[in-house]
Amino acid sequence: VSSYPSHISLLPSIQQCNLTNLPENYFLKYYLYHALTWPQLSFVAIVRPPNNKHTPYPKVVGYVLAKMEEDPPDGVQHGHITSLSVMRTHRRLGIAEKLMRNSQRAMAEVFGAEYVSLHVRLANKAALHLYRDTLGFEVEKVESKYYADGEDAYAMRMDLRSMQ
Ligand code: ACO
Repeated sequence: VSSYPSHISLLPSIQQCNLTNLPENYFLKYYLYHALTWPQLSFVAIVRPPNNKHTPYPKVVGYVLAKMEEDPPDGVQHGHITSLSVMRTHRRLGIAEKLMRNSQRAMAEVFGAEYVSLHVRLANKAALHLYRDTLGFEVEKVESKYYADGEDAYAMRMDLRSMQ
């Protein structure tokens, strides 16, 4: 797992990982905006190249795309997880947990974030386990029809003040 601005050339691979794993997708310029504005907050998991020149490495197998809320409605500095995913071939190895913990630490230490927020589908059992049971997020509210296909989202958040 490494911090993402040192891998600007990997942005298309990060975008590809997102397209493979989630229906919420973004233009390449949005990834670039994250990397240029909050370079400390996003991370990638990369498989290192073996000595095989026929393989298009390095390969991105996971990422977390994160930002600071630019105009927080509550006036409190906080981070937001825009997107997180890990390729099926590399799941249940602790990669998502590590990506999230790195990002959360940087939000608190670099930007003084008091908490981190995110949205997740009600039916996304794996992500809910990760956020609630492994990391300690709490459900703040349900946002009705948050997703383009009409599914509701849990708005979740986790306090980061102990990490500042
Ligand atoms: N079922 C139940 N719990 C799970 C599962 C699962 N399939 N996968 C992960 N977890 C939970 C467990 O609590 C696990 O801890 P444990 O292994 O000690 O039991 C914990 O998460 C940590 O697991 P990791 O190995 O770090 O998670 P992984 O690297 O496999 O990635 C992720 C989890 C990101 C949810 C992955 O399944 C994925 O990419 N899913 C598709 C994309 C997605 O749903 N992304 C999140 C959308 S919300 C957003 O982007 C803000």
